[in-house]
Amino acid sequence: MKDLAQIKERIEQLRAAINYHNYRYYVLDSPEISDAEYDLLMKELKQLEAEYPQFLTPDSPTQRVGAAPVEAFGVVEHPYPLLSLGNAFSKEELLAWYTRASKLVAEQQFNLVCEHKIDGLAVALTYINGHLATGATRGDGFRGENITQNLRTIRSVPLSVPKEAPPRFEVRGEVFLPKAGFNKLNQERAEEGLPLFANPRNAAAGSVRQLDPRITAKRPLDIYIYMLGYAEGKATPPTHWETMEYLKSLGFKVNPNNSLFTTIEQVEQYHHTWVERKESLAYEADGIVVKADSLELQRQLGSIGHEPRWAIAYKFPAIQGTTRLIDIGISVGRTGTLNPYAILEPVSVGGVTIKQAALHNEDDIRRKDIRIGDTVIVQRAGEVIPEVVGPVASKRTGQEKMFIMPSHCPVCGAVAIKPEGEAMSRCTNAACPAQIQERLEHFVSRGGMDIRGIGESQSAMLLREGLVKNVADLYYLKEKKEQLLKLERMAEKSVTNILNAIEKSKERPLSRVIFALGILHIGEEMAELVAKHVGSIDRLRNASREELVSIPTVGPKIADSIVAFFKQKENKDIIKRLKDAGVRLEEEAVRPEELPLAGQEFVITGRLETSSRQEAEARIKALGGITKDNVTKKTTYLVVGVEPGSKLARAQALGIKQLTEEELLKLLEEKA
Ligand code: IVH
Repeated sequence: MKDLAQIKERIEQLRAAINYHNYRYYVLDSPEISDAEYDLLMKELKQLEAEYPQFLTPDSPTQRVGAAPVEAFGVVEHPYPLLSLGNAFSKEELLAWYTRASKLVAEQQFNLVCEHKIDGLAVALTYINGHLATGATRGDGFRGENITQNLRTIRSVPLSVPKEAPPRFEVRGEVFLPKAGFNKLNQERAEEGLPLFANPRNAAAGSVRQLDPRITAKRPLDIYIYMLGYAEGKATPPTHWETMEYLKSLGFKVNPNNSLFTTIEQVEQYHHTWVERKESLAYEADGIVVKADSLELQRQLGSIGHEPRWAIAYKFPAIQGTTRLIDIGISVGRTGTLNPYAILEPVSVGGVTIKQAALHNEDDIRRKDIRIGDTVIVQRAGEVIPEVVGPVASKRTGQEKMFIMPSHCPVCGAVAIKPEGEAMSRCTNAACPAQIQERLEHFVSRGGMDIRGIGESQSAMLLREGLVKNVADLYYLKEKKEQLLKLERMAEKSVTNILNAIEKSKERPLSRVIFALGILHIGEEMAELVAKHVGSIDRLRNASREELVSIPTVGPKIADSIVAFFKQKENKDIIKRLKDAGVRLEEEAVRPEELPLAGQEFVITGRLETSSRQEAEARIKALGGITKDNVTKKTTYLVVGVEPGSKLARAQALGIKQLTEEELLKLLEEKA
């Protein structure tokens, strides 16, 4: 048996290394090692912790994946209440706030920090003796929910901080779901017939306030820290700006768009800039937060009730408009859901013309009391799909009509039913052309089999021409090349590209196939969990309801849906034909050490002519190679581009092998 002290030391080394690389990757966006190298560190740590559970600690990076479900959230008392903010909606209101504050502290002018007001969820993180001890929601400001386990799963939340940090302190920040993650999550939920999140804030809150941290872990949540709540046992900087710099040095993620100003005019300018540019942000922001920089001034200004006098939210003008709701249309989703959407008199909202908007589901329409013919308020937020906020009841004429969900599918005419407890009505005909088309589009989509060249119009055409009746037929299209060539806008080149893309898709991982099949209630996250567990389609197909519910996070609803899917004859045929065509239906475990460039270190110097350095590095990494910035004895190859730097001399001194760009490309091609 190995010396326990040595084991413990190795575990600590691994944790330190993984924490460091997490920080490089998630906070600085600047990784130093390849994913494969990272995975190896993680694997070794997991093994050691499994073998020596006495050394397992809750702040180990292995614990981010989410521990077992918590029974219910406990309560956390906030030692200092979490405040909210007063609002300014105009320049005048901003100036009024500033003037009043200036008078109160008898300062003509004071420094101000501007930050984005991110639409997420406020959290407080407490660190004791270097470790994350609790993470809590704001709650009523005095008492919040204990969501430590869930916050641990967010990669940009440090689980531990350097020794220099105060022995006990609390930071506050905003947890959010970037716009892209929000749209994707909602799209998935719509396809699965689950209720949609109304905005990224609700989605972030819904993801964090999950009883099962494993679900939180799957959502691409992020955090920006925006203040130090308190610190004990160590002096901290006297200004907010310096405090943020200090927190950055401790490993916290602070918004790089924050700015420090000396005048209120500069604040106005910052606001103006971001009103124009907010669409370009990856997250949803509804304004800026202006804070007095000096913490001493903050203390002097104090607060009234829940609102501090030292800070204010200066809102962005809402991008809303009013227009007439001409009608409510219905589109049929992949799983047969009848999705209502608003058909609007075109209106320009923040420079974009809106003709249609989301109307989630029947209950939502009822709740908001939206009637056909109403004047409605529509809202657009970033890249989020526009939505109808509600009616302007005062504009009613009495001619408006209540919306009634059709009892039959508007496409195929089959009966629609609304299962007990579900928000959506569904067309009951699995052979409904609208459903088939949606299933095909889903199958080829990016998150699915990712078959480029087949989009909405090509799917419609293939179905219309009878070349494809279900998703498996795609893999037999190569036998029908002649027919394909006869179709509109299908020249030799596009047909070849499509057929190649179909061939390539045979190698997609099992989780993607499971997701692509479009089983009711199986989104990307669930498909991954299930794939990992079963390892093959055959095992999934033959699994009983009991076996399925024993998979963590798979509930009876999902289990029933899987069983029902594989019971249908058409689906059995599809699986068989996918298998016959050579689609991979098993998890393939590629071990990083088996990749062709495993263990080889590449350093690039100078400019590359045929590709960017990033692209080249990505290709090297994809084959298991490692890329480094500096030449050392361990370097395998120095790739020499145009105008090489000092690395060349160092490589020559160390006798490191050199590659020209051409030689590198050749090597990559050979090994791929
Ligand atoms: S400072 C007293 N800074 O806005 C200071 N808050 O209404 C209060 N928020 O619940 C917080 N971004 O969750 C601050 N950069 C930022 C913020 C921010 C978003 C949220 C926060 C709070 C709400 C205040």
